[in-house]
Amino acid sequence: MKKISIVGAGNTGSTAAHWIAERELADVVLLDVVEGMPQGKSLDLLEAMPIIGKDAHVMGTNNYEDTKGSDIIIITAGIARKPGMSREDLLKTNAEIVGKAAKETLKHSPNAFYIVLTNPLDTMAYLTQKVTGLPRERVIGQAGILDSARMRAFVAMEAGVSVENVQCYVLGGHGDEMVPLTRHSNIAGIPLKEYFPADKLEAIVNRTRKGGGEIVNLLKTGSAYYAPSMACVQMAEAILKDKKLIVPCATLMQGDYGLNDMYFGVPVMLGAGGMEKVIEYKFDADEKAMFEKSAASVKESHDALKSVVSL
Ligand code: NAI
Ligand code: 2OP
Repeated sequence: MKKISIVGAGNTGSTAAHWIAERELADVVLLDVVEGMPQGKSLDLLEAMPIIGKDAHVMGTNNYEDTKGSDIIIITAGIARKPGMSREDLLKTNAEIVGKAAKETLKHSPNAFYIVLTNPLDTMAYLTQKVTGLPRERVIGQAGILDSARMRAFVAMEAGVSVENVQCYVLGGHGDEMVPLTRHSNIAGIPLKEYFPADKLEAIVNRTRKGGGEIVNLLKTGSAYYAPSMACVQMAEAILKDKKLIVPCATLMQGDYGLNDMYFGVPVMLGAGGMEKVIEYKFDADEKAMFEKSAASVKESHDALKSVVSL
C-alpha cells in the first residue's frame, strides 16, 4: 500500500484522511501539534474500515518520524486569521508552520510529492518549494480544482444537468482575482457563453469568485473542507495512479504564460512524475487582462512573504 502523510489534522486534513481511506488509496498518517486529537480521529476512522471492508491503515501522531517513507505529503496545517491579527501576522505564522512541516517531512520522506493546501495558497506552495528545494514537479498547490468544482456545481444547478456534463476551468491565484474561463468552460461541449444569458453567467462567475467566503459566512467557525480535501485527494490519486490528469493547480512558473518565480494556477498534467507538464491555453484580450491582474496580486503576496521570512 502507498503511504500519504497529512500535516494538520483539522477539518481539511481529517476529511482528506477520510476520503483516502474510504477509497483505499493509501495508508494514512495524520499529524498535528495537538496531542491526542490526530490519534483519536485516526482510531475512529480505522474502526470504520471493517464496516466498509477497506484495508487502509490510518494512524494519528504528533511525531514526524511516523511520516517516514511517505509517497505523498499533504500540508494543511495552519491557523485562521484571529481578531487583531494583520494579514502579515497571519502570513508569518502560517509560513513558520508550513516551513517547519515541509522541512521535517522532507527529512523522513526524501522522495515524496508535496500537495499544499494552507492559505494563502499560492504563497504557501511557493514557500514549500523554496524551503524543500525540490523541483517544481514535486511541489503542487491545490486551488484550481476546488474553484473549478464550485463553478461546475453552480453551472449544473442553474442548467439542471448532471455535474458530469459540466467542465469549467478556473485559473489564476486562489483569491477574489481568480480567473474563471467562461469561453473554455462548457456544458456537454456547448460553451457557457452560448448556453446562458450574460447576466446569469456573470452571477455564476461572481458566486465562484466568492465561493470560499460563502461557506465561511454560513459556517461561522471555519472554512470549507469537504470539497477542498477531495481536491487534494484527486491530485494524490492522479499521481499515485499515473493518470495524466489535466487539472488546474498552483505550480511554479518558469517562463510559462510569461511568468517567472511565482506559484500560479494553470492547467497541468498530473501523473507518476507529479506535475509533468504545464498546458498553455490561448487567451483573448479580456482573459489576458484578468490573468495579469490575478498574477499581480499573487506577486504582492509573495513579496509580503519575502518581507517576513528569509528564503
Ligand atoms: P483547521 O483549523 O481545521 O485545521 C488546521 C490544523 O492545523 C489544526 O488542527 C491545527 O492544530 C494544525 N496545526 C497548527 N499548527 C500546526 C503545526 N505547527 N504542525 C502541525 N499542525 C498544526 O483548518 P482547516 O479548515 O483544515 O484549513 C487548513 C488550512 O487550509 C487553512 O490555512 C485554510 O485557509 C486552508 N484552506 C485552503 C483551501 C484551498 O483551496 N487552498 C481550501 C480550504 C482551506
Ligand atoms: C476556500 O476557498 C478557505 O480557501 C478556502 O474555501
